[in-house]
Amino acid sequence: MPTRHAPASPPPVVIVGAGLAGLTVALQLAPRHPVIVLAKRNLDEGATAWAQGGIVGVLGSDDSIDSHVRDTQDAGAGLVAEDTARFIAERSAEAVEWLVQRGVPFSGDPDGPLGLHLTREGGHAVRRIAHAADATGKAIHQVLLDEVKRHPNITLRERWMAVDLITQRHLKVDGAAPRCHGVYALDIDRQRVETLPAAAVVLATGGAGKVYRYTTNPDTSTGDGIAMAYRAGCRVGNMEFIQFHPTCLYHPQERSFLITEALRGEGGQLKLPDGTRFMAAHDERLELAPRDIVARAIDFEMKKHGLDHVWLDATHLGEAFLKEHFPTIHSRCLALGIDIARQPIPVVPAAHYTCGGVVTDLDGRCDVPGLYAVGETTYTGLHGANRLASNSLLECVVLGKTCAEHILSQAAAPSSELPPWDESQVENADEQVVISHNWDELRLLMWNYVGIVRTTKRLERALHRIKLLRTEIDDYYANFRVTRDLLELRNLVDCAELIVRSALSRHESRGLHYSRDFPATLPVSFPTILTRKPKRKAPPWAA
Ligand code: FAD
Ligand code: SIN
Repeated sequence: MPTRHAPASPPPVVIVGAGLAGLTVALQLAPRHPVIVLAKRNLDEGATAWAQGGIVGVLGSDDSIDSHVRDTQDAGAGLVAEDTARFIAERSAEAVEWLVQRGVPFSGDPDGPLGLHLTREGGHAVRRIAHAADATGKAIHQVLLDEVKRHPNITLRERWMAVDLITQRHLKVDGAAPRCHGVYALDIDRQRVETLPAAAVVLATGGAGKVYRYTTNPDTSTGDGIAMAYRAGCRVGNMEFIQFHPTCLYHPQERSFLITEALRGEGGQLKLPDGTRFMAAHDERLELAPRDIVARAIDFEMKKHGLDHVWLDATHLGEAFLKEHFPTIHSRCLALGIDIARQPIPVVPAAHYTCGGVVTDLDGRCDVPGLYAVGETTYTGLHGANRLASNSLLECVVLGKTCAEHILSQAAAPSSELPPWDESQVENADEQVVISHNWDELRLLMWNYVGIVRTTKRLERALHRIKLLRTEIDDYYANFRVTRDLLELRNLVDCAELIVRSALSRHESRGLHYSRDFPATLPVSFPTILTRKPKRKAPPWAA
């Protein structure tokens, strides 16, 4: 039976994602509109809860909007949209205050602005990062999640995964105007795909770091929102710019764990095994150069000396200071036998942040009416060719608010009958190994062929492999019941192709995209914008 929502009660706004972006939109909407928030894993899983360093606030007496915009532009290597950077910088103080008012326990300094201790990270001219020791994301996420859980107008659906957007093409009505009408979502525990009608859909699904073998990202970061929006016909921008964080803990048995840039901000030094510092040979800003430069420098030194990792030495900062400012890193490393007050930390770069994504305006609007996107899943022009540290959490809060305001300003769309998910032509999967094998293969080829230093030949090889994988995955999707692993793989392969096609189309090196075949930076450059080619075959039941 088609799903029709009763005209008397407006359908909710469906927010896909319970990170900082999704929760900000939810809290801003909820006083005036019912909201459903979907999270495909547990509610506390996502990049937000893992954020360490902090959130930018232009608050200090030595700081200014112009200075923050300049630093954002410098890091972004000529591709930052100045109006976006300024819009967000101007609202940064208000964003931090909003979080303070809700009870986020930021680290304090009685002499600091708003009573806050501000730290410093690479690429920032001054101290402007508000933080909660070295676990800022957890502190922010817990406070907002508690508030969302208490709100009577917000329904949380944990372990519900959005599969695809429902657009006019699903309505089977001739000449239906382009619009997003809702989402199909997999209730993971019941193994059923439900139809969720929506007044508007907000994609807040985070980034796509899991497309790489080595990443700082959580398991949720599989680029679902980017892939869904792309499949629905939206533009996707700047996907070649994947940020590799320079310093992840190197430990052969442990999953990647970030060693915050704030440790270098407070004086941590990068060293070779013989104890010599090497950053002076790469940039006059030393350890506080923007991330692309530091990550490439480490990659260069590792290859030159045949190393598995380099060292980050913070021993001179002293045990008391390290325990006070970096308690999480101190205890996590200690549990692995590394006392950071006495020993340097072995570190390597790993995929960290997706600078590109779904093209939106400053209200979060995408190309399909009724569809919005906020947070790491977007391309707004803020990050350009490389994101400045701690600008991401800020973007989630500032544009989460404007997105909610825009949704509230819209007249209700007429309700439509939405077709249910059709499983009549599929069966249970026979072999899960196909999926796990393709996951591993995709992530490894992206690491080896589409990493920190690229060549055209490697990118072409990657594209060839991705196309073969896509054929297998599409075939699997068309014939078997969906599972989270399959859906994530389908989204990852879309993101991988977007990254490689974007990288191949950029004939220069800029910011995070470094090509040995095009080492020069062109005098004029533009964002890379891709839209879907209609030739990919849809499964018969989705056509
Ligand atoms: P996320 O917080 O990743 O949330 C995504 C949500 O979407 C999750 O709830 C997930 O379950 C859900 N989801 C995904 N797909 C689906 C689907 N198909 N259906 C249903 N739900 C779905 N940035 C800073 O500014 N400062 C920092 O100090 C900082 N430190 C970082 C440290 C680490 C280790 C990492 C990984 C990132 C860090 N970043 C930092 C980046 C920043 O944390 C993220 O960019 C930001 O938190 C993204 O927020 P988000 O709401 O867009 O996505
Ligand atoms: C970090 O703490 O180094 C991460 C900060 C960021 O990604 O913005």
